[in-house]
Amino acid sequence: MVSCAILKWRVDSPAPSVDAVLSDKSAQMTPKELEESLKEDIEKAYDPREQAVDVLYALQRQHGHLSDEAMREASRLLGMTPLELDELATFYDFLYREPVGKYVIHVCDSVVCWMHGHQSVMDYIAERLGVGLGGTTPDGMFTLLPTCCLGYCDRAPAMLINGRVYGELTGEKIDRILQELREEEPPLALDR
Ligand code: FES
Repeated sequence: MVSCAILKWRVDSPAPSVDAVLSDKSAQMTPKELEESLKEDIEKAYDPREQAVDVLYALQRQHGHLSDEAMREASRLLGMTPLELDELATFYDFLYREPVGKYVIHVCDSVVCWMHGHQSVMDYIAERLGVGLGGTTPDGMFTLLPTCCLGYCDRAPAMLINGRVYGELTGEKIDRILQELREEEPPLALDR
């Protein structure tokens, strides 16, 4: 099982000014409008680090995943080191350091779902998609990943796809969901 942990973010050193961390304009790739919006949010924060997760999510929404270049952008915006941000990005299930498919299927593997057939659900989806855990289908439609409790325990086993939660999963229901997603145009909003 993937363990759940609680982010404890220490703010124990004086933050650099936002202007200072934004002064390095090298390697920009983020649209000006988005960058300005992120800068505004960072400036409102007590410490730029408070905005780290929001900035990473925003860059991920823009670029699809957190490439090394996106991480450098975040580092420049927040005044944090790439290593600090990498530790954060690899901690959260919904931040992706590698490219993912249009739909990211997170199957819950916490204790209640685990007791209600999590492994069968995972195996079924993997077989249907022809990918292993962490894999992406060749057409770029689906990525299969685990996650911890979705708060849907009363409807276990459960999964989350692009911000939408599905419970009481059966093979038939999974087939229907995958078919609906294949036919959905435009795709679900990527609320990752
Ligand atoms: S244990 Fe799976 S939703 Fe809670």
